[in-house]
Amino acid sequence: MNAAAKRQFMDKFNLNGKVALITGGSRGIGKSIAMAMADAGADIIIASRKQPDLEEAAKEISQMGRKVIPIVANVRNLPEIDTLVQQVMDKFGKIDILVNNAATNPIYGPVFAFNEKAWDATMGLNLKGMFFLSLAVGKIMKDKGKGGAIVNISSEGGIRPGVGLGVYSISKAGVIMLTEVLAQEWGRYGIRVNGIAPGVIKTKFSEALWKDPVRAEESAANTALGRLADPDEMACMAVFMASDASSYMTGQTIQLDGGFFASVQKLLNNLPQ
Ligand SMILES: NC(=O)c1ccc[n+]([C@@H]2O[C@H](COP(=O)([O-])OP(=O)(O)OC[C@H]3O[C@@H](n4cnc5c(N)ncnc54)[C@H](OP(=O)(O)O)[C@@H]3O)[C@@H](O)[C@H]2O)c1
Repeated sequence: MNAAAKRQFMDKFNLNGKVALITGGSRGIGKSIAMAMADAGADIIIASRKQPDLEEAAKEISQMGRKVIPIVANVRNLPEIDTLVQQVMDKFGKIDILVNNAATNPIYGPVFAFNEKAWDATMGLNLKGMFFLSLAVGKIMKDKGKGGAIVNISSEGGIRPGVGLGVYSISKAGVIMLTEVLAQEWGRYGIRVNGIAPGVIKTKFSEALWKDPVRAEESAANTALGRLADPDEMACMAVFMASDASSYMTGQTIQLDGGFFASVQKLLNNLPQ
């Protein structure tokens, strides 16, 4: 074998021996990321609120041949975050990869529709929960001394305000800054923190934007590729960010949005009042 062939670049994408904790791993983008990380060799913990959904997803993901542990946790709730992390440590003794994916948008509409409860529900999960879970896992990664990788799921809405998604967009802009702040502070511990900003991906979460065919066509027309994405199209970027293939990348949020060029005014006119 010649020297060039020995360099084995593709091996850098593998996650063999790694332990990955993925919030919101029971469906949608989180489940796709869990499947892809298991395919790349990681053992997986998926965490969300509904046990039956988690168990079904775990069964599916375990077909990739890795250990998959479903853990019920509401990651909006700080004591549940601590219990989740403790359970993972009891089972695996380490966490190499954290995917902060769970999020919510309780109200689709103008910001006038928001009251304090809806604001707190959005920020409490999308930003506060993500921050405190990152702290809990980051501390373990730091103390173990072997570094780690964190992948935060933001949104195209965190870069340009999503129409009817005002408070959600504010929270997702916060996620992009959270990614930069943690990357800056934790690079010295070998912890890399990166993010993905998806466009419209066909999941339960975004049904309002694609279930109605007229709306789906409008959303698709706002992309350069002229179509919406399946959740699996987010998964390989997460594997890249979690693996040595991205060893010199941190603090970045990559847009996976099919080339988004919003016709914002037209969409604003259609926003329910
Ligand atoms: N789909 C899109 O178009 C799109 C676009 C941009 C960004 N994103 C982002 O992508 C991420 C995943 O979204 P998705 O579209 O895959 O959504 P989804 O299909 O609705 O899945 C959401 C997941 O999060 C879990 N979850 C919700 N609240 C939770 C909580 N409090 N604690 C723990 N788990 C919770 C859900 O399970 P339970 O309900 O059982 O808890 C489910 O597993 C989110 O951060 C979202 O903001 C999505």
